Amino acid sequence: MASAIEILGKQAMKTFSDYWRGPKNLEKLLSLINKITAEDVKLDKTVLDYVSRQPAPMCVIDIFENKDITITVFILKHGVKMPMHDHPGMHGVLKVISGMVELNSYSLKTKNHVIKPKEEIAAVRHRPVYLDSNSPACTFTPAEKNLHEILSVEGPAAFLDILSPPYDVDKFGNGSRPCTYFKTVKSKLCSELADIIEEVQLSVTENFPDFYSSSLEYMGPSLKNYCD
Ligand SMILES: [Fe+2]
Repeated sequence: MASAIEILGKQAMKTFSDYWRGPKNLEKLLSLINKITAEDVKLDKTVLDYVSRQPAPMCVIDIFENKDITITVFILKHGVKMPMHDHPGMHGVLKVISGMVELNSYSLKTKNHVIKPKEEIAAVRHRPVYLDSNSPACTFTPAEKNLHEILSVEGPAAFLDILSPPYDVDKFGNGSRPCTYFKTVKSKLCSELADIIEEVQLSVTENFPDFYSSSLEYMGPSLKNYCD
């Protein structure tokens, strides 16, 4: 019988096979990912303890990648913040499977996601959400909540991430879908009550010297036969 992660991978492929038209049957994918546990991807206490002891702020387990999707587990040590970054033209689904994170999402105010290095970019900041393994998955789209920063408030905190299409960059960092990091340069409070809490101006920032990752091998069921 197929494992939960294999069934999820198969559904992720179906959902995002025509990603330019938008996801199909996203609800089915969400109901499957909401049931995924750390055990399903063979993330146990030994691995989490290892992450806490090794030097990198974040460890990454690549589960699967093809032209349409990537499925990855990110593990942030306690107190680590994954800096604000974008996912240009991409959809994403994020499910916490261990620990707790604070997710701060931002939506750009411009329609076309073209980032120029020296310009300020207008965006809105959404109300932060706190997610643990009991929380449902969060989603983003090319237009909604496409930027985020993720803080490990109870770590090590691990989340499963499905992106479609994958980032597209060569080894020099050039390509149609690079990952850009941002910082807030100005902010103005909006509302205490609504989902949008701040209007912000962002600027591109260089990679963070203190933030880097190391890779861990994926020990769970392979998705190769299901997803190719
Ligand atoms: Fe991200």
